[in-house]
Amino acid sequence: MSWDPDQYARFGGERLRPARDLVAAVPLASPARIADLGCGDGRATQLLAARWPAARIVGVDSSQAMLDAAARLGLDATWQCAGIDAWRPDRPFDLVFSNAALHWLSGHETLFPRLAEAVTPGGALAVQMPRNFAAPSHAALFDLAESPRWRSRLAGLVRREPVADPVWYYDVLASRMRSVEIWETEYLHALSGERPVVDWLKGTWLRPFLDALPREEADAFEAEYADLMAAAYPRRADGVTLFPFRRLFIVAMR
Ligand SMILES: C[S@@+](CC[C@H](N)C(=O)[O-])C[C@H]1O[C@@H](n2cnc3c(N)ncnc32)[C@H](O)[C@@H]1O
Repeated sequence: MSWDPDQYARFGGERLRPARDLVAAVPLASPARIADLGCGDGRATQLLAARWPAARIVGVDSSQAMLDAAARLGLDATWQCAGIDAWRPDRPFDLVFSNAALHWLSGHETLFPRLAEAVTPGGALAVQMPRNFAAPSHAALFDLAESPRWRSRLAGLVRREPVADPVWYYDVLASRMRSVEIWETEYLHALSGERPVVDWLKGTWLRPFLDALPREEADAFEAEYADLMAAAYPRRADGVTLFPFRRLFIVAMR
């Protein structure tokens, strides 16, 4: 999938709020080494560096465009262009952190045990993933991709439930970690603009569907999706579009 740092940054404030909440929930005084998996444009990495300025931070991401944007922040961090699927660190990290990235990977039953092993004893695994795939923003996208006009080319991209329920993550981590805290938060984003939900999804989940189509058809698909979003998330009289967004948080201590 192609990532566009500018499109992703359009809702930077809203997208960073869960990262702030996750960083604030990590009960570590001074982790020496931190891995930020799926670090993207480095904005969440910047929060890590601000809270633990002495830590050595490695940002890992498979998108060179996002890493280029991260490098422009001028942080004292190392940026690695690599897939999290293949990430096998030489030695464990005091904090393995991942904000809004692991839902892009399948195989959580092997991924999460591997990430737990990448944490030093006394260290932490801290993860945030969206868990609103049944909301209209995502469900309507999947339904549209599976509709007769589009399904031959787009149905294969549909992943209805990339994130399991909280109890599933507890069960995977409880035997491997000393403590496991899991919670969900639903943010009520108050967005401005003509069609903010479409623009939000264009920075993430809509992207692979548009990338899979020639330009004119991508425009037609986007227009159909925009009509669905206008109905599901109507703009209020004050110009605001309310966009509820549920996210799953995990902080597990080894
Ligand atoms: C929604 S962005 C989140 C970026 C950043 N963590 C933040 O909080 O703003 C998701 C990032 O995960 C990266 N990503 C997705 N799948 C990946 C994979 N398999 N390996 C490495 N990075 C991946 C993408 O390139 C993208 O930069």
